[in-house]
Amino acid sequence: MRIGIVGGTGKEGSGLAMRWARAGHDVRIGSRGAERGEARATELSEVCGKTIGGGSNPWAVEGAEVIVVSVPYGAHTSTLESIAEHVGDAIVVDITVPLAPPKVRRVHLPAGQAAALEAQAILPEGTKIVAALHHVSSTHLADLDHDLPTDVLVCGTHRAARDVVIGLVADLGARGLDAGVLENAVALESLTPVLIQLNKRYESAGGTGLRITGID
Ligand SMILES: NC(=O)c1ccc[n+]([C@@H]2O[C@H](COP(=O)([O-])OP(=O)(O)OC[C@H]3O[C@@H](n4cnc5c(N)ncnc54)[C@H](OP(=O)(O)O)[C@@H]3O)[C@@H](O)[C@H]2O)c1
Repeated sequence: MRIGIVGGTGKEGSGLAMRWARAGHDVRIGSRGAERGEARATELSEVCGKTIGGGSNPWAVEGAEVIVVSVPYGAHTSTLESIAEHVGDAIVVDITVPLAPPKVRRVHLPAGQAAALEAQAILPEGTKIVAALHHVSSTHLADLDHDLPTDVLVCGTHRAARDVVIGLVADLGARGLDAGVLENAVALESLTPVLIQLNKRYESAGGTGLRITGID
């Protein structure tokens, strides 16, 4: 599958890119600076042993079947506006957590209630938006030889799109679970500050994650 990762030069996007490339996907990472994207892609390709493409954010998403938005919340609106005309009929996976630094251990509800709902208002009508991966630590993602010790809750506007993302989560080495409609992103995004609190309180080395019980 062709996957374009906006902000793929960063901590979370880099791990996603390497894991999906190793699973056989055609991955491109994007950056505000095309040269930075190219250079980072070269580094990541060397680490994971698979070719990852790199360039500007619009270049990375053009023609992609799945687009992942992986930028800090402060850059969310401007980044989405910069790719909106390139989205086509791709599934857009928004992993953004609307943190309000420096108080990152406190839930911050943005004006639109969730970053993913704000994305829906910015991207062209009908865009298949999925929210996921808010609870996957970049430290664990970077540890390429181990499965991810977490479940991944996936919500979105279209069930078929959620199912595609649940499949991509399996390719990362985790279990994806269908968490329903996009409005549920309010709950998913809000849980991350709680995990950050747990990381600190219990001195979690690689970062805490979620495990849902009662599902075989
Ligand atoms: N890190 C985690 O463990 C984790 C876990 C779950 C979810 N998330 C979420 O995933 C998203 C990305 O997190 P991250 O830790 O990967 O972030 P990051 O490394 O700080 O930033 C990711 C990329 O976003 C771009 N960027 C940074 N500041 C920007 C700005 N002001 N304007 C436009 N682009 C900017 C940069 O790319 P260029 O400079 O190349 O353009 C950067 O490499 C966040 O929304 C975060 O809440 C993170």
